[in-house]
Amino acid sequence: MKHVLVTGGIGYIGSHTVVSLVEQGFHPVVVDDLRNSSPTILTAVGKLSNDLFTHISVDICDYKALKRVLSPFSLDAVIHFAAYKSVRESFDIPLHYYQNNLTGLMNVLELCQTFKIRKFVFSSSCTVYGSPNERQVFENTPKQLPESPYGFTKWMGEQILADFHRNPTPFQTICLRYFNPIGAHPSGLIGELSVGIPNNLVPYITQTAAGIRKHLTIFGNNYPTPDGTCIRDFIHVCDVADAHVSALKHVGTKPLEAFNIGTGKGTSVLDLVQTFMAVSGLDVPYRYGERRSGDVAEIFANVEKSKHELGWEAQRTLEQALRDAWNWEQRLQQHD
Ligand code: NAD
Ligand code: WQD
Repeated sequence: MKHVLVTGGIGYIGSHTVVSLVEQGFHPVVVDDLRNSSPTILTAVGKLSNDLFTHISVDICDYKALKRVLSPFSLDAVIHFAAYKSVRESFDIPLHYYQNNLTGLMNVLELCQTFKIRKFVFSSSCTVYGSPNERQVFENTPKQLPESPYGFTKWMGEQILADFHRNPTPFQTICLRYFNPIGAHPSGLIGELSVGIPNNLVPYITQTAAGIRKHLTIFGNNYPTPDGTCIRDFIHVCDVADAHVSALKHVGTKPLEAFNIGTGKGTSVLDLVQTFMAVSGLDVPYRYGERRSGDVAEIFANVEKSKHELGWEAQRTLEQALRDAWNWEQRLQQHD
């Protein structure tokens, strides 16, 4: 297997994955119209991968164009990242989310049928577990209805894939359910681009440390957790990227499978803030605020299946992830 179609491969997780794929000898064919990325990230991915990938700028919702640009390639597998991802924004523009995330997925599946591409890796999310009854979730923990339109697009994405597999097909799929990806490439050349005020915790912390935000608000300190703040499974984005390489090597043993991509360890919001201050040596002013609607108190992954069946487990520490996140924020400020 060599040529891998990577939709959304210049985005946050996609760009790190393209670098990992090239390091492992794959040739990524990246389709990304940069609507949530930038030419600077594209250039940086080129630098980190010796330009050993192909980039095509096209909207995956335009099936005709997608088919036309990809017909010269002989593709062995697909990693499908391209989607909108903001929970908050999905409440304001739900139709855009359903349109892009579901039409995009269906177009890429159609393309797989037409081009006889048999291996598929889907970017799913821990959001498919909704508000689980257990603190630690297994892949067979019953899925629950998500809290947001964005979450529904992932839930329905998995359902579309399950229906696609109802009839015997030579097609094989892995759904990777990411927990909370954070951090950036250690080079500081690629990382997450936040537009406007960040929704997610780590970019909010790094922007506060950089003086862009006055203080961090921790949403709730009266949860039933040891320090009262929520608990999440934060994982270095480079570990998430590596999981895709493992998934590509593994895909094919079963028709359709899901894997949790987390560290297996829960960290509280307060712990994370304090760890950031310790590794950066900076003060991050914070206050406690109201709970954010839709937040679950505690969720972290069980990763035994990923360890044993995918042969993958997270290698990097929380400290490393936070150091890399801060390094990335500082680079961003230098270029602004
Ligand atoms: P991202 O927005 O940084 O990357 C997505 C990329 O897809 C962007 O570069 C964007 O330009 C491209 N794209 C979007 N729609 C497109 C279209 N119609 N045509 C062509 N290109 C298009 O997001 P990310 O954080 O890298 O997330 C990647 C995937 O992982 C998404 O499917 C997301 O839902 C999923 N996911 C992300 C997280 C997270 O915390 N970042 C967690 C769980 C799941
Ligand atoms: C983490 C914790 C907040 C900001 C999201 C999506 C999920 C998946 C991963 C895509 C929570 C707290 C945050 C702030 C805070 N993405 N927080 N102050 O919500 O766990 O997961 O990303 O699929 O679907 O929902 O991540 O980073 O927003 O929040 O106190 O300013 O930090 O309340 O407890 P979340 P997050």
